[in-house]
Amino acid sequence: MSLSRRVVWVVAVLVLFVAVSAAGVWYLATRDVRTEFDDPDERFKYASMGTEHIGMPLRIWEVVPDVCPERLPGGYASLGFIFEPGHATPIGLPVRTIGVPRVGLNCALCHTGTVRETAGSPRQIVLGMPPPSLDFQGYVSFLIECGADERFNVDNVMAAMEKKQAMSFVERTVFRSVIVPKTIEAGREEGRKMSWVLDAIRMGPGRYDVFNSGRVRLGMDPRSGPTATVDFPPLWNQQARRTHHAQWDGNNASLSERNRIAAIGAGATPDQADADELEWIDDWVLTVPVPKYPFAIDQQLAEKGAPIFQIQCSRCHAADGSRMGQVTPIDEIGTDRARFDAFTPDLAAAMNTLRARRWSIQSFQKTAGYANLFLDGVWARAPYLHNGSVPNLRALLEPPEKRPTVYYRGSDVYDPQNLGFVSSGPEAERAGFRFDTTIKGNGNGGHLHGTSLAPEEKDALIEYLKTL
Ligand code: HEC
Ligand code: HEC
Repeated sequence: MSLSRRVVWVVAVLVLFVAVSAAGVWYLATRDVRTEFDDPDERFKYASMGTEHIGMPLRIWEVVPDVCPERLPGGYASLGFIFEPGHATPIGLPVRTIGVPRVGLNCALCHTGTVRETAGSPRQIVLGMPPPSLDFQGYVSFLIECGADERFNVDNVMAAMEKKQAMSFVERTVFRSVIVPKTIEAGREEGRKMSWVLDAIRMGPGRYDVFNSGRVRLGMDPRSGPTATVDFPPLWNQQARRTHHAQWDGNNASLSERNRIAAIGAGATPDQADADELEWIDDWVLTVPVPKYPFAIDQQLAEKGAPIFQIQCSRCHAADGSRMGQVTPIDEIGTDRARFDAFTPDLAAAMNTLRARRWSIQSFQKTAGYANLFLDGVWARAPYLHNGSVPNLRALLEPPEKRPTVYYRGSDVYDPQNLGFVSSGPEAERAGFRFDTTIKGNGNGGHLHGTSLAPEEKDALIEYLKTL
């Protein structure tokens, strides 16, 4: 073979090699692979709904607590996440491969709770239950603060990753030169957008301000409007709530719109939100069962409570109630108004501009107060009221001046005497976050219904509420 022909061959082979490598790198950098789940409950807990585009690569996510150890001494578990065997991430943090495996968020994070019968018993996981121990603000704050920390640099992140799990030459090169620097940069940018979370009041476990995150996703200034922290609501039995004015202030009467705005608030853009998954969630949430009260119920006493509920509560809280699914005006219900004020007409208008190929949002509206809601599974929804300002049902049936002004939240140990999670004493303080009702947005006034009943009537009513 002549020299020139040989050169042509070498060049051709090189070009082919470069082209194949480039195609391979392109594939690896952009491939989008969902993990599929056959079991519906597993799917709810671990499937992606399309928020991973802004999610951190799993390998990096795993070592953030090692890079900033004193910012999260107990690791991710200390934030109240629910870890199950066989999963690299907790319930609600799905992993999807977009280039590399990335950690996202799904509905189960804020809509799956745990309960323990005593401090020594195992945790029961209840799908749809508001998680009493999840410190979501703590999670977001930790990621922002560690992300901005000078120790969160390429060398330290690489060292922590290699310490955890050996890397091949190719992995090391790609992570060091591209993925880690990009993640640090993207994390700082996201941290700047979400920095309102650091300046907000300490929300404590079981609570968050989702609509202010919504402001960020809609390109609005999160500091432009009032903010308000709310308790996570239950996600079971949505069939019965389909056309109710739901969200705490009843700002939307369409279940599918409520489900979609949740995906946007959690970080997906309308194009990235996984339309198939959201349609599956629409159906699945219709069937989530209401958890049964796990302790004994005195049936005779509960029967005495039924007519009291009928007279005092059913018009706003029962299926046949004349005001069920409607909104009680703020001055009539008299509970803390911060959440009511925080949902502003301009936020509603901005939400109503959201469009995707298969859906659009159009019916958010400013309402006049707070929604009259079903009390199904009410035993598992403590602390009570939209802002979680009242630790248990017994306290809710007391006039506001007799409700505790300070209590501890965060424990998932149940208190069957008062119907709520233990909120005072050593177990509560150990797990707990000190909730102060004198802080703006935490007020525990209003909702005087049932507060003037006789003590034995309250006992009967509480027994009846266990059956819902
Ligand atoms: C970051 C936590 C978080 C995530 C993730 C989340 N939610 Fe929520 N969800 C909330 C909070 C908080 C509210 C109450 C909002 C309010 O009214 O202020 C809520 C309200 C709702 C409601 C209205 C319930 C009612 O009866 O008023 C529905 C329905 C809902 N979410 C569905 C979903 C779905 C479906 C997903 C996943 C696509 C999801 N949520 C993801 C925190 C979350
Ligand atoms: C006039 C309508 C009305 C009546 C009557 C009424 N409630 Fe309510 N209730 C509401 C509204 C509105 C809310 C939401 C208030 C808030 O979160 O600030 C609420 C909230 C609650 C909650 C908190 C639910 C949660 O998930 O945190 C409980 C528990 C409750 N009510 C129990 C009762 C009981 C028991 C009675 C009867 C003694 C009663 N209510 C009578 C309108 C009513």
